[in-house]
Amino acid sequence: MPTKRGSIRRSRVLSCRRSKTMSVNEKLILALDIDDCEYAVEIIDKFSGYVDIFKVGLELYTVAGPAIIREIHNRSRKVFLDLKFHDIPTTVAKAGIAAARLGVFMFNVHASGGLDMMRRCRDDVVNVCLKENLSRPKIIAVTVLTSMSQEVLKNEVGINHSMNTHVRHLSGLTLKAGLDGVVASGREAAMIRGHCGRGFLIVTPGIRTSWTPQDDQMRTMTPKQALREGADYLVMGRAILGQSDPLKAIELINSEILTA
Ligand code: C5P
Repeated sequence: MPTKRGSIRRSRVLSCRRSKTMSVNEKLILALDIDDCEYAVEIIDKFSGYVDIFKVGLELYTVAGPAIIREIHNRSRKVFLDLKFHDIPTTVAKAGIAAARLGVFMFNVHASGGLDMMRRCRDDVVNVCLKENLSRPKIIAVTVLTSMSQEVLKNEVGINHSMNTHVRHLSGLTLKAGLDGVVASGREAAMIRGHCGRGFLIVTPGIRTSWTPQDDQMRTMTPKQALREGADYLVMGRAILGQSDPLKAIELINSEILTA
C-alpha cells in the first residue's frame, strides 16, 4: 500500500520547504488514507504549510477516531470528515450532529440515501448548531463514486440511464434537500454547475496527473481540467502521498492549479 509508514521517503518529507503555494492551499484537500494515527500526525505536520483541509476517511477514522480530528484542529487546519453516511434518516441525522459537535468543516452523506435522509440530516444539524452555538459544517452528498464506471453502474447497480443523467439527478436531489454541494467526478462538474448553480459546492476526487497511475479510479481528471470544469475543491491522496517525493508532487500540483 502506497500510503503506509515507510512508503514515503521521509527524509524528503522532513525537509519540507514551506513555500509560496499558500494561495492554492484552500483548493486542495489532502486525503489521509493512512492506517496509523502517529504517522498521520506526522503527515499533517509536514503538509500543513501546503493544505488547509485534511480529509479523514473510513480507514483513518476507524483506527484513530475523534482524536485525529483534534490533532488537525490543534494545528489550526480544517477537517473534511469523509465517512459517507448512508443509513436510515434518524441514524444519519444523529451521525451528522456528532460530526458537527466534533467541529468538522465538512462531512458527507450518500445522495442515494434519498431526499428524506439528506433533509433530516441537514435540518437536525442546523437546529443543533443554532442551539449549541456551533459553526455549521458544510454537508455534501456523494453522487456516484469516482471508482465506478458506466458499465458497473448499469450491470451491477442496475441503473439503466447514463452516468451523466444519474449524477445530474442525484445532484438535483441534493440541492432540493438543502445541502451545500456534492462529491462528483470532474467529468460531471460542468454539467452539475449548469444544473445546480454557482453557489453549489463541487468536491472532486479521482484526480490524477499525467505522471500518476489511475489505480482503482475510473472517472479521472487532471487538477487543471477539473478546476476548469468547475470543481471548487480537489481531493487528492495517492497522487501525492504515494509518490517517492510527496512534497515535490504537491508543489507540481500546486503549480498546475495556479495555471488553471
Ligand atoms: O488516492 P486517491 O486520490 O484516489 O483518493 C481519493 C480519496 O477520495 C479516497 O480517500 C476516497 O475514499 C475518496 N473519495 C473518492 N470518490 C468519491 C468520494 C470520496 O475517491 N466519490
